[in-house]
Amino acid sequence: MKIVHISAECYPVAKVGGLADVVGALPKYQNMLGETSSVIMPFYDITFTKKNEFESIYEGNIVLDEESHPFKILKPVDFLLGFDLFLIDIPELLFKDYIYSFDDSNRFLAFQIAALDWILTLKEKPDTIHCHDHHTGLIPFMLQESFKYEALNKIPVVTTIHNAQYQGCFSHDKVNLIPKFDFTNVGLLDWNGTINPLASAIKCAWKVTTVSPSYMEELKSAANGLESLLSNEHEKCVGILNGIDTNVWNTETDTFITKQYSIASSIAGKKANKKELCDTFNLNIKKPLFAFIGRLVDEKGSDLFPEAFDIALKNNDISILLLGSGDHETENELEALKTKHKGNYNAYIGYDEKLSHNIYAGTDFLLMPSRVEPCGLNQMYSLRYGTIPIVRSIGGLKDTIVDITDNGFGFTHQHASVKDICIAIERATAFYKDDVNFKKTRKHIMNIDHSWDNSAKKYIELYKSLNN
Ligand code: ADP
Ligand code: GLC
Repeated sequence: MKIVHISAECYPVAKVGGLADVVGALPKYQNMLGETSSVIMPFYDITFTKKNEFESIYEGNIVLDEESHPFKILKPVDFLLGFDLFLIDIPELLFKDYIYSFDDSNRFLAFQIAALDWILTLKEKPDTIHCHDHHTGLIPFMLQESFKYEALNKIPVVTTIHNAQYQGCFSHDKVNLIPKFDFTNVGLLDWNGTINPLASAIKCAWKVTTVSPSYMEELKSAANGLESLLSNEHEKCVGILNGIDTNVWNTETDTFITKQYSIASSIAGKKANKKELCDTFNLNIKKPLFAFIGRLVDEKGSDLFPEAFDIALKNNDISILLLGSGDHETENELEALKTKHKGNYNAYIGYDEKLSHNIYAGTDFLLMPSRVEPCGLNQMYSLRYGTIPIVRSIGGLKDTIVDITDNGFGFTHQHASVKDICIAIERATAFYKDDVNFKKTRKHIMNIDHSWDNSAKKYIELYKSLNN
């Protein structure tokens, strides 16, 4: 079966968060299962595209607002990802030194049109088109409604919602940018008076998936305004838990980390990684180390950290390390804490892939007090690296982490609150002192299988059910 994923991000080319990890791994695993799975994504002016060579395999023109824009389909010349990668280069619109900015509607609309224009020219058409998030949310509508894509309208299209908080809305004033369709169906684009790409995808895709079963349930009552739509469409919706790429996230081969380790050598391995991390960030290796990695946004509960960290550091003999960027006020407050808790707390405000691997490998506990967490990959990386996760029981966190008191291997809490975070840190600190069980749990979690094997199969079964 020929599957084409269309996405704004794909690791290692362009990554902001988990979307990139998923799109950089799922196609690889689908190919290992004998399918032919590829990725179409934008060509941005970023480090990866600057460092690698690409060749043009197709040249075309898209028309947007009566203006014609040339585009190319580029293929990497010499790096192998485990799937074919096609990058759409629209120099006048897409080729920027960032992935997202404030108003991306024209850029991503142009990307989606160019992707379909190119697919239209392919001799061998895909058997399934798999779209990811709102950046590709208008594809199901265009396939079904735009006259120029009539030849593609029998191709099943699946949309995965990675995060319903972001919907990509724009004004109906721009409706003419969408390739011509029967205007009596304009309602398929609309939600509450605006063009809403995510809502349109939910209406028009043949199947809608999201990235964990619990999040699918939660969306019925909390979907940033799309609750009733998702309830109406529930028959075509399914939650499939994300996996992780166990080749990239492998403590035995990870070239980012200071000391590679296996389950058997995990005690010494984690110690060496923790030492390096503590030396770098001026922390005491003897104290239990708690870390956070992620976007500093309300969804992740990061606004709670300045107060929670301050209290937890006063009440416990621990260290805390944070890696992330986002909300400027939170960034400033987290920076300010450095002076107050010098030697016990540190933060790197920014994005650093290598450092993230070193933190998963070197820290003892990982904090994820998310308000919303459709799946969350950090907790699964953390398990694989022998780091005990402390999570709010929500979405994918609820589906993957079982509390230690329920015969599990992590710490869970009910609320995204300063109080719950502090209580969880206290419980974990006490557990750290129980050296035998702490080390036993570490080894146990490294054994839990969250690779894409299972979920990649589930997606294939889903595509097959649409191709019958
Ligand atoms: P989300 O996609 O909502 O941000 P996920 O848990 O699905 O959350 O995935 C986050 C991914 O981004 C993980 O691979 C995590 O390690 C990575 N990440 C997040 N913030 C940073 C950062 N500041 N530096 C390096 N990696 C980061
Ligand atoms: C989104 C979600 C995150 C999920 C990721 C990959 O960014 O916020 O929970 O893990 O997508 O599906």
